[in-house]
Amino acid sequence: MRAATGPRAELMVEGLPLAAVAERFDTPCYVYSRAAIEARYRAFADAFARHPTRVCYAVKANGNLAVLGLLAARGAGFDIVSGGELERVLRAGGTAARTVFSGACKLDAELARALESGVACFNVESEPELLRLSELAQASGRAAAVALRVNPDVEAGDHPHISTGRREHKFGLGLDVAGALATRAASLPGIRLTGLACHIGSQMLDLEPLARALTQLARLARELLAAGLPLRHVDAGGGLGIDTAERAAPTPAQYAEVVLGALAGVGLDVVVEPGRAIVGPAGVLLTRVVYVKEGHGRRFALVDAAMNDLVRPALYGAWHDIVPVRGEALSGAVPVDVVGPVCETADYLGRDRRLAVQAGDLLAVTDAGAYGFAMSSNYNSRPRCAEVMVSDGHARLVRRRETTEDLWRGESLFDEVG
Ligand code: LLP
Repeated sequence: MRAATGPRAELMVEGLPLAAVAERFDTPCYVYSRAAIEARYRAFADAFARHPTRVCYAVKANGNLAVLGLLAARGAGFDIVSGGELERVLRAGGTAARTVFSGACKLDAELARALESGVACFNVESEPELLRLSELAQASGRAAAVALRVNPDVEAGDHPHISTGRREHKFGLGLDVAGALATRAASLPGIRLTGLACHIGSQMLDLEPLARALTQLARLARELLAAGLPLRHVDAGGGLGIDTAERAAPTPAQYAEVVLGALAGVGLDVVVEPGRAIVGPAGVLLTRVVYVKEGHGRRFALVDAAMNDLVRPALYGAWHDIVPVRGEALSGAVPVDVVGPVCETADYLGRDRRLAVQAGDLLAVTDAGAYGFAMSSNYNSRPRCAEVMVSDGHARLVRRRETTEDLWRGESLFDEVG
């Protein structure tokens, strides 16, 4: 969230000073704005209101129950990629009937549970997966609604790790084989072919590749419909980016123009699976400076958050703005590397940031609501941090900080094993 600045140059979330959140819940912790999440979801729902569309929030971006619960209450559907995500959705009050199941390697137990719970659609990525789903569906006496995920061979996304739509990527089916497999799917027992899907990448700021991909899907859909296959929808995946320092992201309305424009006239319902664009700017990672250290012409702010809390800088070289919670810290700013306690050179949150920091200062790492906590780990035996949701000036703990005992939950000493 671009947290609002208060009268005394103090960062606030929904009217609550971030310093008060740190005081109450300690650091590091993630802080989410309920209003921002709801507004961003609403922007997608409104943008697609003129066409039958289901907005299926990509749970992987941030699966906190409180986040899922808010979205479920507002009528969102969900895009899941594991049995664990399905259980989260159900636990948070979401409905399987509004949930699509993506992912290149769904396990038998996950397929069986998804069938049992009645998910709306399986986005199938390979022939063996389709055959396995057919067997499991027959065994369970239920029909599985299926969309075939097509790999349209286009480049998208701002980093090679999050671009997924090229031929050499593991995702989806080539356009050449998807048509034949669709025909086969339509006659397989236990399978009800209902659509085509794609997801070409994440943090997309340029929507032209998506338009090209969807145009190809539209062409294939027309062919299949003409051949009498009962297609009902096209799933355009997720991937809409968020603003960066250099470039503003397209709005949900501009994104809807592109998606609905490319699919115009095909006469099919639409599914979209936004993750980052809904929660990314709605969260910050709050951290405290522990030491300031000078060495070899560099200045380091050693903070209590690390790559185990937010791995995006280390993994993708991702940029997150780092802002002092109390504005006074801005005067006398010099370049600083903001680094954490983990024993890796890659453990940084930001390099060469102009900050005037002292030990004890609070910093907010912005745009951390998506793929922040969701990708956190216990590396270096660091308990995972707390998550807090702020609504209308009130903060609630929506995930408690892990305890030391949590670190070895499920483990045993070798001699204790019977
Ligand atoms: N649908 C599918 C099938 C996906 O694989 C993804 C993301 C989404 C939807 C949601 O994409 P979004 O709207 O959030 O861009 N960890 C990386 C991002 C990985 C995205 C993986 N798939 C990061 O931190 O940038």
